[in-house]
Amino acid sequence: MPRSIADQTDEELGGSGSVLVRQRDDHEQLDRLLRKLDGSTGRAQEEVLTRIDRLVFSHAFAEETVLWPVIRRVLTDGDELTRRIETEHQEVNELVAALEEGGVDHPDRPARLARLVKVLQEDVRDEEDLLLPRLQERLDPAELRRLGRQWALVRRVAPTRPHPTVSRRPPGNALSGLPLSLLDRSRDLVDAVVRRVPGPLAPAGTVVSRGLAAVAAAVERTPPARRGDGPPTAR
Ligand SMILES: [Fe+2]
Repeated sequence: MPRSIADQTDEELGGSGSVLVRQRDDHEQLDRLLRKLDGSTGRAQEEVLTRIDRLVFSHAFAEETVLWPVIRRVLTDGDELTRRIETEHQEVNELVAALEEGGVDHPDRPARLARLVKVLQEDVRDEEDLLLPRLQERLDPAELRRLGRQWALVRRVAPTRPHPTVSRRPPGNALSGLPLSLLDRSRDLVDAVVRRVPGPLAPAGTVVSRGLAAVAAAVERTPPARRGDGPPTAR
């Protein structure tokens, strides 16, 4: 049984810049945000949740387009291992979409939030204890650092919001990634302005944000965006 990447030094993981070190850094940031979420309410809770979304969706998109295809190439059981993670990612997409749609007063909100925290924590454990140590056995430190650069680059231009209909596997996610990222990031900007400057322009901002969400929903449903999905994650 290979050692969890949680128990190894940066050096053992291939040095700073290695995909394993970068993964663990993001997972630690997520853990801090999840602890903040626990105990927060109302508007503060909304804001922590927004930060969690921005972190996890770009992080997972880059995994699904860059890392998991490599794992499927180098491990004989890579298909099964990555499908397990993709199924968790799919549930996170569906939970956050439902939380957004239901709003702050929905009766299912506490249960959905609790489930979201649980799935995110399980996802991190599966990656750090099962999947990434297996990748570590197959790649040398230079390869781990090269993959780290590729993953970080894609993460910086990845979508930042839930897209449950998009394929969790290439080519669908890769094809729809750029338009969805532009739409998501425009919406992030508009929403941030509306939140910070709650003046007479706020209703217009909300309309723009909803319009962008509708365009994203249409992009998500186009056939190319769904290409490559398997039964466990296809919607
Ligand atoms: Fe991860």
